[in-house]
Amino acid sequence: MDGPVNSKVGPTTSAADADDLALAKLLDKPKLKIERKRSFDERSFSELTINVRQLESYDSLYSPGYRSSGIGTPSSLGGEVFDPHPMVGEAWEALRRSMVYFNQQPVGTIAAYDHASEEVLNYDQVFVRDFVPSALAFLMNNEPEIVKNFLLKTLHLQGWEKRVDRFKLGEGAMPASFKVLHNPTRKTDTLIADFGESAIGRVAPVDSGFWWIILLRAYTKHTGDISLAETDDCQRGMRLILALCLSEGFDTFPTLLCADGCSMIDRRMGIYGYPIEIQALFFMSLRCALLMLKHDAEGKEFVERIVKRLHALSYHMRSYFWLDFQQLNDIYRYKTEEYSHTAVNKFNVIPDSIPDWVFDFMPCRGGYFIGNVSPARMDFRWFALGNLMAILSSLATPEQSTAIMDLMEERWEELIGEVPLKITYPAIESHEWRIVTGCDPKNTRWSYHNGGSWPVLLWLLTAACIKTGRPQIARRAIELAESRLQKDSWPEYYDGTLGRYVGKQARKFQTWSIAGYLVSKMLLEDPSHLGMISLEEDKAMKPLIKRSASWTCAKPNKEDM
Ligand code: GLC
Repeated sequence: MDGPVNSKVGPTTSAADADDLALAKLLDKPKLKIERKRSFDERSFSELTINVRQLESYDSLYSPGYRSSGIGTPSSLGGEVFDPHPMVGEAWEALRRSMVYFNQQPVGTIAAYDHASEEVLNYDQVFVRDFVPSALAFLMNNEPEIVKNFLLKTLHLQGWEKRVDRFKLGEGAMPASFKVLHNPTRKTDTLIADFGESAIGRVAPVDSGFWWIILLRAYTKHTGDISLAETDDCQRGMRLILALCLSEGFDTFPTLLCADGCSMIDRRMGIYGYPIEIQALFFMSLRCALLMLKHDAEGKEFVERIVKRLHALSYHMRSYFWLDFQQLNDIYRYKTEEYSHTAVNKFNVIPDSIPDWVFDFMPCRGGYFIGNVSPARMDFRWFALGNLMAILSSLATPEQSTAIMDLMEERWEELIGEVPLKITYPAIESHEWRIVTGCDPKNTRWSYHNGGSWPVLLWLLTAACIKTGRPQIARRAIELAESRLQKDSWPEYYDGTLGRYVGKQARKFQTWSIAGYLVSKMLLEDPSHLGMISLEEDKAMKPLIKRSASWTCAKPNKEDM
């Protein structure tokens, strides 16, 4: 242990038990601002035919979290339940240093403030996905202005015409990142944005639009300011994003078909197809949009489509992406080449394609959503973001959420290691690495996206721990992070099977590593913040499970024949 560690957050002390009690109380505490916000909620749900009211209880659209503590003073420095760790102050300073201004107004945070690094690449830009933990930290500290400005700036960028060579991108696409150019002589600021047309690999960021919707709801819930989400511009922005992913095509699955590198893992890593990372974000953003879309002439149609999609998506994910000991055993014994709707092995997965590692990795207790499912292809790798977001969005049933946490406990060394948290497990190596990554030197085994450890994921872990009532897991992980992050200058990622080494090409002072830590601390300190990024289970979406019952085809009428 390097820095002085707060005795109150030790996993085995009785003070920790006291914290658990305080935590339980906080989770139970009455929501104070429900009254004045009720009308918006009621309007959001009133016209639905399916019981979507249960998708969300009143108190999970809004929280009482908006306190008027001194702006600029991290509220976590004045907490009564938790003493601040000395790192918290430095983290706030570093986060503020990363702020980006447009016409003197804060509009985001740059990806990394690493002056020692020779190559800036695009780390001096504001990335949409990277800004999310910064935004949550600012909201939790009652500084919503920067979040509002960011939401409006990116919405404005969405309106740009986007092209790659002679091809025009869909209207709804949100940028991966943007940059503010200051002209000191003219005293003007201009924006440049990247929608994938400059990105390495030229892939559009599918996750950006989803994060934008999720953040709009977090802002709305935390501040109680419904006026932003209700503006014509925000309503239109949401509809445009949704139009891109709800459009009908040749799909036979409700999951979203994606190119490799279209999310946080933005280089070729074999996640093309139906990656869990995107499906969980898709699900979360559909649920968030449902809470915010107006039921006017244009919004109503989207609401209906979202409700249908959510039902199909949760069924599909919970049935076909879920893997536990029993399910693995079933797949191992699958028959192949089954034709027609009585098939058990619907996607014709050949048991020989199950990798050896998964048999040892799978504990008796626990389970997870696998990386990808498509014809004859199951990617059995573990992906942290997708699984944690599945818990937060309630894509995972309560039983599945518990099982995911069980798995993380059972496989602590593999998934958390010495510095939390593995982005994916296991790494791909040798011939497979050559084929899958295209020999990517940045994604060698146990480095970067290929089994590297990313401190930013700590906030998602902490939130999931609180939601499943297991804060002690988050405390253990945060303690590990506290023993390294500051000392190592807040790296972007760590390498090695245990995440012990600062990543080969990791930036220092990576903003989302800093913000992710702060969000984790503030979540533990005041678990009522959880409502900003978590949704309760929808009882109307109760699962299945009869594996061969998904095919329905209406018989034609005699007259039609
Ligand atoms: C890298 C990461 C990506 C992140 C960006 C900025 O490209 O893969 O997820 O958004 O850096 O930090």
